[in-house]
Order: sequence, then C-alpha cells, then structure tokens
Amino acid sequence: MKNFKILITDHLAEEGYRILNADSEVDYELRAGIKNSELKPILKDYDAIITRSGTTVDKDLLSDTGKLRIIGRAGVGLDNVDIEEASKRGIIVMNAPTGNTLAAVELTLGLILSAARKIPSADFHVRNDGWDRKRFLGVQLYGKALGIVGLGRIGRNVAVRANSFGMRVFAYDPYIKAETAESMGVTLFKTLDELLAHSDIVTLHTPLTAETKNLITREKIAIMKDGAIFINCARGGLVEESALAEALKSGKLFSAATDVYEEEPPIHSALKSIDNLFLTPHIGANTEEGQKGVAVIVCEQVLNALHGRAYQFAVNTPFERNRLSPDMQRFFDVSERLGRLAGQLTNGRVQELRLIMAGKRFNDSFVEHAFDSPFNYQPFTFAAIKGFLEFFVHEAVSFINAPYFAKDRGIVVTETKVQEYNKMSDHVILTVKTDEEETVYTATVFSDGVGRIVGVGPFRLDLIPSGMYLYFRNVDTPGIVGYVGTLLGKHNINIANFELTRLSPNGEAISFVYVDEPITQAVLDEMSGYPGIIEVKFLKV
Ligand code: NAD
Ligand code: MLT
Repeated sequence: MKNFKILITDHLAEEGYRILNADSEVDYELRAGIKNSELKPILKDYDAIITRSGTTVDKDLLSDTGKLRIIGRAGVGLDNVDIEEASKRGIIVMNAPTGNTLAAVELTLGLILSAARKIPSADFHVRNDGWDRKRFLGVQLYGKALGIVGLGRIGRNVAVRANSFGMRVFAYDPYIKAETAESMGVTLFKTLDELLAHSDIVTLHTPLTAETKNLITREKIAIMKDGAIFINCARGGLVEESALAEALKSGKLFSAATDVYEEEPPIHSALKSIDNLFLTPHIGANTEEGQKGVAVIVCEQVLNALHGRAYQFAVNTPFERNRLSPDMQRFFDVSERLGRLAGQLTNGRVQELRLIMAGKRFNDSFVEHAFDSPFNYQPFTFAAIKGFLEFFVHEAVSFINAPYFAKDRGIVVTETKVQEYNKMSDHVILTVKTDEEETVYTATVFSDGVGRIVGVGPFRLDLIPSGMYLYFRNVDTPGIVGYVGTLLGKHNINIANFELTRLSPNGEAISFVYVDEPITQAVLDEMSGYPGIIEVKFLKV
C-alpha cells in the first residue's frame, strides 16, 4: 500500500509522470477531463490533486476535502482555484509559475507581429488566390511605444524583447518600483490611463483578480490612441469583450489579438466575426518546453510537500519554515510551543492574541510575503496562533488556516516588533486576553540553541517546552510536592523532570512536572481536591 494518492485531472507532459513514477510511495491516477460532479465525491480520498485550467476548484468542489492536502496547478493562473476556501481548509495551493513564462512571452510577440502586419489574414488571403497587397498595409514596431500592463515574469520578458525591436517600452504595475522598471529599460507610469494614452500597442500581463476584472472597459479603450493595437495573452475577464469588438469594428483600434476569452472556448463570442482581430485557442503555454516545464515543477513541488520537504511555489502558505535561517527556525518553533502552552493554560473566552517580537534580530529577519495575503503576519505570529488554537479548534489547524480560525472566532490578532520589552531582548511575548483574564507568556532561545518558556504570567521559569506535563498551581506550603510525587507513583506515572517556581515564600507557585505517560482525568480530579492546590491540568506541548 502506497502512502500518498494523487489525482491528475488534465494531461501533463511525460516528464511529470516520470517524476511521479520514480517515487515508490506515490500512487497516481489520471482522470483527464473528469467533471466536477464525478470529482466531488472522490476528492477526499486523495492527498493531492494536480490540475490545469480544465478543472474549476471552487467552494462547492472543496466542500468535502477529507485527506486532501495539496492542490497543484500545472501552470500560472490560479483564477480557477478558490484559494481562500482551500486556505480555510488548510490545503496548500501551489502553481508552476516559471515553467511556461517564455512560451507565453513568445506567443505575445507572435500576436504583436500578427496584429501589426495582419499575418493570419494575409495567409488566408493567399490561400484563397488573393494578391491584394494594399489590404495588408501594416505598421512597424521600431520606434513605437509598447504599453505593458503588469510587469511581472511575462511582462518583463516581453519588455526585453520589445527593446531589441527598437520599441519604446512603458509599463503600468502598481506593485513594482519605478527603479526596478528602469533597470529593464522600461518607463513606469503611475496610472493605467497615462499608459493607455501614451502607447501605440497595449499588451496585458496581469493575473485575473477582483481588482483586475474588466480592467479594460469601453472608457479605457476610449483613452487609447486612435489606431492603437491591443493584445491579451493573459486572461479572459480582464477585458470587456463587447467594448473591444466595438472598438475594432469602428476603427478606433487598428487591430487586436487575443489568446484568452471571457468564456473558453468562445463558441458564442461576437469576437469571432471581427476580421482585424486575431484569435488563438489559449495556447500561450503550449510549447514542448512550456508543458515540460510546468509538469516537472508541479510534480516535484507536490512530492516535496507530501514528503515534508521544502517547496517553492505555494501561493497560500505565508512563509516556509525551511526558508528561515536556523536561528529564526528555533524562534519559530518556540513560538508555536508558546502558543500551544498558552492555549492549554488559558481560561475564559479568548478575545485577543497579541504577539510582540522583542529584539533587533526580528527586524533583520523580517519576512516579505510572496503573495497578497489577508494576514500579513510574521512567521512567529502564525506559529503562535496555530499552536494556541490547536486546543480550541477541532478541525486540523495549520499555519495556513490558523488566522482564518482566529478571525472566525472573533479573536483579534496583533503583532508588534520592538527593540526591547520590559528590558528583555530576543524574546517572543504572547499576551492572551480573555473575558476572565489577561496573561503574558514569554519565550526565548538560549545560547545553547534550545527554546525555553521563561515566563507565565508573573512567574519566571526555565521550561524546555517539549512533551507531556502535569501542571499545577498551588499555595506554596510544605508537603505539596511530596504529595504529588507520591500520587503519581501510586498511579505508576514516571516523573522525568520537575520545574517549580513561586512568587514568594508561602505565595502562589506553579509547577510543570515532565511525565512519561499521559495523566488521566481521574488523577487530575484526585489532585485538585488536595488542600492548597488551586488548579491542575495535563498539558501536551
Ligand atoms: P506575474 O505574477 O509574474 O506578473 C503579474 C504582474 O501583474 C505582477 O507584476 C503584478 O504586480 C501585476 N499586477 C497585479 N495587479 C495589477 C494591476 N491591477 N494593474 C497592473 N499590474 C498588476 O504573472 P505572469 O507569470 O507574468 O503571468 C501574467 C498573466 O499571464 C497571468 O494572468 C497568467 O495567468 C497569464 N498566463 C497566460 C498564459 C496563456 O496560456 N495565455 C500562459 C502563462 C501565463
Ligand atoms: C497558465 O495560466 O499557466 C496558462 O494560462 C496555461 C494554462 O492555463 O494551462
């Protein structure tokens, strides 16, 4: 019996199957073109699913995900995957963003040339015994202004090639810096309108998101130069197709070319009847190299994630532990354990979790998020929330879904970075506020590289948080430690270590008794009746 089952819902290049075949722990099944109605009841039996654009991984499909942990997209666009729903369910969503970049770049260049010289119509004309050369008066690219909307992987590579044609290259991309664009020989405009007004040829290279849907409307086309050329090799849905059709028919635009459509295939589209528009059937990624690229990347990444190895292209994991420095990994781990301990010691309805990272090292290790997350926390905050919620939430909590669970439960999460907190540096401090109490938990990593919990409320301690503990709070009176030792011995529970800390002689004390066996509720009940004992819990950290 293999450990992992993968379902593939669209054809992949041979190289992808070769990678899967080489993994003795993996069983995969190819169900190319499977309908969502057939897919929905079986999805829960797979650890991972690999799709292309043919499968719409929507909320309905994700309503019963069972053991599904990974959605792998053999391509760039993730507009067919409900990433938020997957995240809420703790499922990693990954794509293969670099595999087909050059394929899409080269098709874009092909479409620009086709539209500028009307090459497809000229071909059709000659095949039909035509020789009317005046009909095919084109425009030259040299000296023209190319306006790139979205200066990402594809946009940048289009820019490099357009520069070599002697074009002036402009771009609009609100998420990149002007200097970055300049270093590629591209002038960045501040607004889309400016770009449209200055470009002879406009080419789209943004993802389809709520923000970019219908980016190019009738009003935007009106801003474009008369006689401009328009190219879309990115996504249908970025353009209002009816407006594009009108602009081509009226002669506002010289010509256009598109590889992508609002509805694919565009069976009922009005675009098909327009002769200064050139159409391709979403083949931007379709080169041997492009298909091999995405298949290899997605299969390798899915296997890496299944085996718990580092993977690069997840779009909804806020960070990757393996990519943190070893020092930061230790802080990350102790933050998770700090959250876990706090989660089990907390009483009352949780209202707020406040994480403070104290120390310069946290500024130096600031993690930039690779994707647009609604929760732009640092890894330590994700770790603390995840650890904390494990004991409140019955569903499996992961670093991906933990912030959603917190939000759903009305828990306000904040994080702060400071140089020093109460004279402490290089500490992670978690404050838990409930309707009954507010408690501060503190952790650090000692020079021996081992993480410690060093504060629980007013108590100072030195606890290596790993394993099972009997925790109790009591009034510091003689005999209690002896009583607890005798009781555990009576129940055959071995004590490995004992951490006791008190506020003052005869004041309150807390203890963490490191035990080798779980402690039953009956033992806890017996202990809680003993004079001087205020609270007893069994903890797993
Ligand atoms: P990318 O993420 O590298 O680049 C996208 C760029 O768009 C980013 O720089 C981003 O900052 C920018 N952007 C986001 N919102 C924007 C907005 N409102 N206005 C302007 N810019 C904005 O993606 P990529 O790999 O370059 O892919 C670009 C597009 O091409 C995607 O839609 C992808 O799905 C599509 N694609 C299509 C094919 C095809 O077969 N036709 C093949 C590959 C990729
Ligand atoms: C992509 O987003 O990678 C391309 O559109 C190709 C595809 O959908 O397969």
